[in-house]
Amino acid sequence: MKTVYIASDHAGFSLKNFLVKHLVEKGYAVHDLGPADTARCDYPDSAFAVTSALKKDESAFGILICGTGIGMSMAANRVPGIRAALAACEFHARACRAHNNANVLCLGERVTGPGVAADLADIFLNTDFEGGRHLRRVELFDKKQD
Ligand code: RB5
Repeated sequence: MKTVYIASDHAGFSLKNFLVKHLVEKGYAVHDLGPADTARCDYPDSAFAVTSALKKDESAFGILICGTGIGMSMAANRVPGIRAALAACEFHARACRAHNNANVLCLGERVTGPGVAADLADIFLNTDFEGGRHLRRVELFDKKQD
């Protein structure tokens, strides 16, 4: 059974709750890291709650939702070992797993409706990394940057 850690900010709260229900119904082990209500909160805090969980549970996946998905992806990608991908279409959701070995899916509630978001999550969680030439490129993420 795959494990999913999911969190949002206030702007992603409704979609987060929708996806929690969807993924539980699909049989995933879902850990909802909040928030518990729509009070304004800061998306980096939510992103780092999920990345911290993934550092301790490396075979798990993360899903992060804010208004656009952009802030969540920027914050999560500051963490070594995290490969967060903002997806707005099925091709993104499939390619970020197959080619980039993404371990976090970022979504924007103001961009992507719940039905499409559920499809994107399903594709993300059911697509394997292809490895091969893509592995060498992904390994370059952890090399010195400057
Ligand atoms: C909150 O208004 C909004 O800025 C946030 O959810 C996110 O879209 C940032 O990237």
